[in-house]
Amino acid sequence: MFEKKTVRDVEVKGQVVLVRTDYNVPLTVTDEGKSAVASDFRIREGLLTLKYLLENGAKKLILMSHLGRPEGKRDEKLSLRVVAETLAGLLPGSAVNFVDEVSGSEVKVAVEDLPERGILLLENLRFDAREKENSEEFAREIVESTGATLFVQDGFAVTHRAHTSTVAVARLLPAVAGLLLEKEVVMLRQALAEPERPLVAVIGGAKVADKQPLIDRFLPVADRIIIGGKIAADGYESDHAQIYVAEDFDEDGEGAKLDIGPIATAKMAGMVSGAKTVIWNGLLGKAEDPAFSTSSTILAKILGERDDETSIILGGDTSGFVEGLYTEDPSLTYSLISTGGGAALELLAGGEMPGVEVLEGK
Ligand code: 3PG
Repeated sequence: MFEKKTVRDVEVKGQVVLVRTDYNVPLTVTDEGKSAVASDFRIREGLLTLKYLLENGAKKLILMSHLGRPEGKRDEKLSLRVVAETLAGLLPGSAVNFVDEVSGSEVKVAVEDLPERGILLLENLRFDAREKENSEEFAREIVESTGATLFVQDGFAVTHRAHTSTVAVARLLPAVAGLLLEKEVVMLRQALAEPERPLVAVIGGAKVADKQPLIDRFLPVADRIIIGGKIAADGYESDHAQIYVAEDFDEDGEGAKLDIGPIATAKMAGMVSGAKTVIWNGLLGKAEDPAFSTSSTILAKILGERDDETSIILGGDTSGFVEGLYTEDPSLTYSLISTGGGAALELLAGGEMPGVEVLEGK
């Protein structure tokens, strides 16, 4: 299921490891007007690989990520400094430093100053326009300034992009996958290739254009596809017998259909309860408003209370919603809450994953 080398297949002892993480996390503003991490889910999921590298004797870890879409310009609101602070809180025994450059002399000094077994997070890659250009020149600068001897790709959520930090850098160093990347790719591929049946896909969200490729990908493999969310409210139509489109809706005072209604929710609950594998992408209603989160909450609870069946949650909004519920109720468990939004959909729809392709084969 995974044809690429991972950190387990190479000697990490003594290496200066350049790790591409995806710390593109939601931010919020504190009362003092400072940026803060609103959800540390992606940061926590990436700890698996960082701990593995440290426990297996890596000399230094240099982490790089993007945050938001600053379009090649420095924007202090999108600095990764707040992520370094969050990471330090999650790894109390480790030195976690931050440098506000991605390459150059300041980075060299920061790497030299980093104690052995220390972690250094570089500044937001997308402050430099060359990040999105898959630039060999920028990649060389990063590798030379950090002195990295091994590249680890663990930012699953960005591996559908052919950028400097996902492709060009991987061509300059021995390049292997991290454990989060491996876990997500294997689980997602397995869910489509050899699912335990019945396999039910639940698809919500707002735009048909975004969801149609996923629906098309599921049609030949899923036993049932349930359509909710705004795409159902907007009148999604299909002749395929295995597709069920929500038939009733909860409305606000002005008649806007903002959640699937009690009949559709009951039918959906029945279909997923009998399934051995459920893949869910896209909220079923306007779930950020508690008045319209009923169906999404019921689905998240049914999936989280199942023990032996596979439940996979995909997409930023859906994963964030489910994560919020299990933070309140840790007894809920899921096989995979994917860190990847676009990347997970791309992988499931059979699209290209240049950041995975470029890694060394086994
Ligand atoms: C994501 O959040 O889906 C990834 O970090 C990719 O971000 P992007 O869509 O801005 O490239």
